[in-house]
Amino acid sequence: MAIEYIDEAPTLEEYKEMRRAVNFMVLSDRIATNALHNAFHITTVRDGGRAIGMIRVLSDGSYANFITDVMVIPEYQGQGIGSEMMSRTVEFMRSTLESGETIVLYLMSAIGKEEFYKRFGFLARPNEDWGAGMSQWITS
Ligand SMILES: CC(C)(COP(=O)(O)OP(=O)(O)OC[C@H]1O[C@@H](n2cnc3c(N)ncnc32)[C@H](O)[C@@H]1OP(=O)(O)O)[C@@H](O)C(=O)NCCC(=O)NCCS
Repeated sequence: MAIEYIDEAPTLEEYKEMRRAVNFMVLSDRIATNALHNAFHITTVRDGGRAIGMIRVLSDGSYANFITDVMVIPEYQGQGIGSEMMSRTVEFMRSTLESGETIVLYLMSAIGKEEFYKRFGFLARPNEDWGAGMSQWITS
């Protein structure tokens, strides 16, 4: 069965299953549903209908764009699927531009994944031009 790249969200159950498969934090159903519903652009990778990978972009619809939930379930890793998702996503974002315009793509690399992202033009921070990326968890 051919691998398909479909620009639609996975179902809530598929999203939770893929997150489980790559050991991402467990989200409440409410948080996970809103994460899928409110994303700017999602590609889900399917093999014979089964969701085996995904990538999401959060965006103001213009200048600031954040790539997250980059995941390929373990049995499909190392086959070029993650690279294809990244290339397609960067090209999709480029397609939103008119001639001469510039926007920014951000992401937070997991530890040890920096070399993967550098292949698609991302620069590790801090560097000469930018300070460190910063984040925090907030829990109620
Ligand atoms: C990161 C991830 C999406 C990559 O997907 P993938 O389908 O396995 O990646 P690819 O098969 O396209 O690999 C592309 C290349 O990057 C390399 N690569 C993959 N992960 C890498 C890593 N951690 N460090 C360095 N290189 C890496 C591969 O060796 C491959 O090199 P090659 O083309 O010379 O063979 C996948 O490993 C994954 O889902 N990991 C668990 C979830 C995760 O940590 N996501 C990132 C959150 S920031």
